[in-house]
Amino acid sequence: MRLRHIKGAEELIASNRFVIQDMEGMRGKHEHPLHIEVGTGKGRFITTLAELHPEIHYIGIENHSSVLLRAVQKLEESELPNLRFMLLDAAGIEDVFAPCEVDKIYLNFPIRGRRTDTPKGDFLQDSSLTDFIRSLPMMG
Ligand SMILES: C[S@@+](CC[C@H](N)C(=O)[O-])C[C@H]1O[C@@H](n2cnc3c(N)ncnc32)[C@H](O)[C@@H]1O
Repeated sequence: MRLRHIKGAEELIASNRFVIQDMEGMRGKHEHPLHIEVGTGKGRFITTLAELHPEIHYIGIENHSSVLLRAVQKLEESELPNLRFMLLDAAGIEDVFAPCEVDKIYLNFPIRGRRTDTPKGDFLQDSSLTDFIRSLPMMG
């Protein structure tokens, strides 16, 4: 995915009602069932899920404000009540979700670029995230 910086993206994200701003303050207080996508990009996958499953709460996590802005702009059009976003590096995931608070985590194409031998952008290298995944409840 090409990352083009959008001027003013940080400010727009910081004041957007669809982006959870007080991430640490919400720790342990999210509604259930809660499914998250780490590295949500422009939000296409998680937006489709949120449309299909209104009974599930979704949060898309992305660490690039210019990319997240695209996802947020789509949500402004649809106003899905069960979808929100976080501007967050995956390394900080344990600071914003309590143990067992997340029911499901999606990791789609975490490696940026075409060459799979290039670890750039691969958040699965991050031990905080892999520790967090290990703490998730086992499903069936
Ligand atoms: C290849 S894209 C995949 C986008 C989307 N999941 C999809 O399936 O189309 C990977 C995304 O992960 C994001 N990303 C990379 N490292 C991240 C990190 N440490 N924390 C959060 N997001 C990250 C990138 O900015 C990029 O938008």
